[in-house]
Amino acid sequence: MHWFEVPAKINWFLEITGKRPDGYHELVTVMQTISLCDRVGIEPTDDGKVTLSCNLDLGPTESNLAWRAAELLRSRHAPSRGARMVLEKRIPHGAGLGGGSSDASTVLVALNELWGLSLTDDALRELAAELGSDCAFFVAGGTALCTGRGEKVRPLPDLSGVTLVILYPKVVVKTVDVYREISRGLTWAPKRCYLSHDADATTAKADLGRFVFNRLQEAALRVSPEMRAVWEATSDAPGVGVRFVSGSGSSMVFLPGSEGSAQSLKDELARRKLGEVFVVQTIGPRGTGRGECETSKSPKFV
Ligand code: C5P
Repeated sequence: MHWFEVPAKINWFLEITGKRPDGYHELVTVMQTISLCDRVGIEPTDDGKVTLSCNLDLGPTESNLAWRAAELLRSRHAPSRGARMVLEKRIPHGAGLGGGSSDASTVLVALNELWGLSLTDDALRELAAELGSDCAFFVAGGTALCTGRGEKVRPLPDLSGVTLVILYPKVVVKTVDVYREISRGLTWAPKRCYLSHDADATTAKADLGRFVFNRLQEAALRVSPEMRAVWEATSDAPGVGVRFVSGSGSSMVFLPGSEGSAQSLKDELARRKLGEVFVVQTIGPRGTGRGECETSKSPKFV
């Protein structure tokens, strides 16, 4: 069995610039992979079949994005190949952390390697975009500017090594509900994204607090009163600093001053029993060694 790490993401910035005739929204978003990870184990086979098991009950296999990714790649590029896959989930579901999308893209990258297909990252991104709007980003991960419906990906200066606290309020918020809510009034002048490909990474890291923005945040809080209750209950926690919702929620991201203050904020949020809390690091693109998933430090991860 070959094991692959599957990083979650946050959005440093997310603006909606319009609604498209196909019903999707036009986005400008800065995505970032983080050290909170799932893992996928894959054994390549030659029986033309893809199987998937998981440590959690994910419902019917055929609707799972990781399984669909393997099937898509097999049917297009390797009809006689197969795979036995084991998914170990840790990234919460319905959390705005991209867990399902990252599972799918990691499967594409992994099977491309294990089946010896030699597809380029761009070819993998094209396949990934068929599976979901943010799947293309996860082919490489790191820090990237994503536009279109999220599938056009351009690398940005490396913002790895930033410590964050993530709070998952144990509330599932459906992306489709948040977009439906926001499309009721698309009236704002779009905010500009100040992080560009030629920005200085050190300055950008020091400036993150001013840069973060999420247009979906208010809509997500309107869609889920349970999420709003948790959001409001975090406002007076000591050391909260900058806070924002990741993607369409429900997870909340806190930008504390240092690793020490991250741990005390985690303890405080846990003491208040607001949900599951993780201290994470932002990581660089796949294969660069800039930051590692927690799973590589914990052999007993399940
Ligand atoms: O592409 P994906 O299946 O991940 O998107 C889930 C839902 O989120 C879509 O059905 C759509 O309602 C909404 N969405 C959107 N505009 C985007 C991305 C997603 O409206 N750019």
